[in-house]
Amino acid sequence: MMTSISHVRTTFFDENPSGRLINRLLGDYGMLRLEGVMSFGDTANGLAEVLCVGVLIMLTNPVAGLLIIPVVLLYALLQAQLAPMMSHAREIRAVKIGETLHRETDLIEGRTVFTLYNRQKNLLNRIHRAFGNSMNIQLLYCRLMSWGILWMGMISAAYAIVVYGFLAYGLHVGLITSTLAAVVITAVFNLNNIFFGLAWDMSFLGETASHARRAFFMIDLPDEITQESNLPKVKLVNDEEKVQFSGDIRFENYTMSYRKDLPKILDNFTVNIPQGKKVGIVGRTGAGKSSFMQALFRMVYHRDGDILIGGRSIFSADISSVRSSFGVVPQDPYLFAGTIRFNLAGNLQDVSDARLLAALRTVNLDVDLDAQVQEGGKDYSVGERQLLCIARLILLDKQYILMDEPTSSLDRKTDEQMQRLMRTVLADKTVITIAHRLESLEHYDLILEMAGGRLLREGTPAELIPALRSQYVA
Ligand SMILES: Nc1ncnc2c1ncn2[C@@H]1O[C@H](COP(=O)(O)OP(=O)(O)OP(=O)(O)O)[C@@H](O)[C@H]1O
Ligand SMILES: [Mg+2]
Repeated sequence: MMTSISHVRTTFFDENPSGRLINRLLGDYGMLRLEGVMSFGDTANGLAEVLCVGVLIMLTNPVAGLLIIPVVLLYALLQAQLAPMMSHAREIRAVKIGETLHRETDLIEGRTVFTLYNRQKNLLNRIHRAFGNSMNIQLLYCRLMSWGILWMGMISAAYAIVVYGFLAYGLHVGLITSTLAAVVITAVFNLNNIFFGLAWDMSFLGETASHARRAFFMIDLPDEITQESNLPKVKLVNDEEKVQFSGDIRFENYTMSYRKDLPKILDNFTVNIPQGKKVGIVGRTGAGKSSFMQALFRMVYHRDGDILIGGRSIFSADISSVRSSFGVVPQDPYLFAGTIRFNLAGNLQDVSDARLLAALRTVNLDVDLDAQVQEGGKDYSVGERQLLCIARLILLDKQYILMDEPTSSLDRKTDEQMQRLMRTVLADKTVITIAHRLESLEHYDLILEMAGGRLLREGTPAELIPALRSQYVA
């Protein structure tokens, strides 16, 4: 399951929030690995027990023995009524418990904001309501179970009375011994428990089947390459045929949306980004800046037009060649728990400490290779994390660097570092930056202004910055 999820198209996660996915995966995994196996064994065991009791009764009286068949059918009928209701109640219960947990997580994670606005009471009320709902569904579940137990008890009791009648007659006319009668009485006495256990195990087995269906759905999820290859615009390329992209990046009447059924975001977008240039993208929120980056990564639904690098369509190469051409410096880089060395070298093979230290020196980061990093890297500033990303891209010798500038201002020193790197070690690389501050664009070669998924204006900083400044300050 995890393997297919790791290869699925990214928009899958828009439709399936990660919290829900994790809950489901844990539920499916637990059910299939533990309860599912157990309920399968228990059901087989229960069926064998019913068969034994039936054979035993048959020894005393064939008619009484055969009567177990309609009894089993009645149980099955009851089970068919009850099982879907119980399973539905269990599902609702899981959702309601999930909701309570979700609210509790909100309370813990958002405690600063809630305390600041004095809204804890409001959230606590919601937690209590969610908890009340989950208790109500738990009660409903118990009622359903009691209702089932009552009917099962009545069916078993009726059958027991019939069997006891036959036993009394058999003993009276001397057809059976009292020992056999005693054994049968014990077996019939226990029949209700056996049926109840069987019903319980079968309902779990039914639930296991629904978990298994969901697990197979996850396993069979098409990976994004297979999914993309179904699109008319994409030629599936042999995996062996890696392409080394080089040259200008050109969008030609490119149109995309996030999914087939969603509206177009970049619409008839045309732009040329010359090789080795430093290009800043600006635009109001929702203008399409991030969508532009995702389009380069082929993460979105390609509707029309083309994206060419050095004259070669990125849709005619295999997706990993396309993606590995770009290095990314995210807005809020995530570092892994471990050491700086681990974060820097990652899965690079045979990279010497001297090279790692040289990369750190190039970006002017004064940290020890063995310095510890907390999960996420929150013990390093955004600027430091971005510089660490750049150091890594230098090691990887990426020709195209996509940078998402932090919204909050970088400190002046880090800002100057970035500008210096653009002129030195990144001088021959193509750098595309989503810029949130006009000052950082002063040394760029080209500025693209986007609006509504289109290119509104393009020009040099000298041509555009004064106009942009008055526009974005206004
Ligand atoms: N995953 C998504 N699924 C569907 N629509 C999306 C998705 N991401 C963005 N959009 C839509 O695409 C449009 C462009 O969004 P985009 O994120 O590219 O803007 P942006 O310029 O990066 O904005 P910001 O400055 O706020 O980051 C918006 O209308 C947005 O609602
Ligand atoms: Mg964005």
